[in-house]
This record gives sequence, structure tokens and C-alpha cells, in this order.
Amino acid sequence: MTLPQTAQPETGQPSTALREMTWRDIPVLALLELKLFADDAWSEQTWWAELAGRPRRAYVVSEIGGAVVGYAGVDHGGEVADVMTIAVASAAQSRGLGAALMDWLIAEARRGGARNLMLEVRADNDAAQWLYSKAGFVMTTVRRRYYQPADVDAQIMRLTL
Ligand SMILES: CC(C)(COP(=O)(O)OP(=O)(O)OC[C@H]1O[C@@H](n2cnc3c(N)ncnc32)[C@H](O)[C@@H]1OP(=O)(O)O)[C@@H](O)C(=O)NCCC(=O)NCCS
Repeated sequence: MTLPQTAQPETGQPSTALREMTWRDIPVLALLELKLFADDAWSEQTWWAELAGRPRRAYVVSEIGGAVVGYAGVDHGGEVADVMTIAVASAAQSRGLGAALMDWLIAEARRGGARNLMLEVRADNDAAQWLYSKAGFVMTTVRRRYYQPADVDAQIMRLTL
């Protein structure tokens, strides 16, 4: 896993850094999940299973002043890598942290030898779709009513690496 030194700190803001996720982060991650994903939140159990899936899985957290404010993860599946998750705490959004996490996901997928990076996103998630389009992802297919019980479509997006 390769990590950049800093993640686009803004003038006057505490600097941010990416580091490898550890099991000690799990309680905080589970709380952030509930706030950010509600019905789709990953439990502590899911996080344990995800971290046990390394090195096929790779996860980082984004920190400000020692507090975890974002995270992202990728599945190395050979020629096709999958974004497992990307999220930034509400209070830390719109400062470039999501874009920095996306840069890491792309670099990590390339490092693992992938030719394509795939992800799925809720059709009603404008912020995430904007971030992905800016990174070069294009929509490939729609999975109708994929997210339940909200009954929302999933858009499958691909980035050619
Ligand atoms: C999607 C998410 C990770 C973006 O993180 P972020 O740190 O706010 O993203 P950035 O600050 O790097 O912004 C990236 C781009 O998205 C845009 N953006 C941010 N919030 C937006 C919003 N609510 N609506 C539209 N665009 C938005 C920014 O303007 C920026 O574009 P710009 O560089 O042209 O200004 C964050 O909103 C989030 O965690 N959401 C909840 C969890 C989630 O939905 N994860 C994705 C699951 S598929």
C-alpha cells in the first residue's frame, strides 16, 4: 500500500493525512457509518470481516488532528478492482478530502495491477456522483431498486486505468 504524505490541506485548516486503517479504528468507523449511510451502514462485525480480507482488501483513513474524518477501501480483484467504500464525515466534507481519498483509491488499484476500477453509487447521491465523474468514472449500467428498503437504483460506474 502506498500513501501520500498529505491530502490537500486548505489554508488555515489543520493538515490532513492518510494512514492505513487498523482494527482500533473500528468503533469510530461504525459510528460514522450510521451517520453517513443509515440503512446501508456497515456494522463493527462487517468492518472486522473487511479488515480480515487484507491484503486483497486495502483500507485507509483520513485524519485531522488525530481524529478519523474519512475512509476508503478497495478490493484487488486482478484486472478489475472494486471501490468498497468512500466516505467523509459531514463536518469535514467539501474540503477536498473525498477527492484525496479517490486519488488514493485510483493509485492503489493501479498498484495492484487493475485495468478497470468499478463502483456502485445510489442514483440519488449527487455529491458522490459528482466526485466520481470528476475522477473520470463513467456510468455503465443501472441496477433497478438495488438499495432496499429505500427502493433506490444503483448506478454502476467504471474508470479505465
Ligand atoms: C461523497 C463524499 C465522499 C464526498 O466527499 P467530500 O470530502 O465532500 O468531497 P470533496 O470535498 O473532495 O469534493 C469533491 C467534489 O464534489 C463536490 N461536492 C461535494 N459535496 C457536494 C454536494 N453535496 N453536491 C454536489 N457536489 C458536491 C465538490 O464541489 C467537489 O467538486 P469541485 O472540486 O468541483 O468543487 C461525501 O459527500 C460523503 O462521504 N458522503 C456520504 C457518504 C457517501 O455517500 N459515500 C459515497 C458512497 S457511494
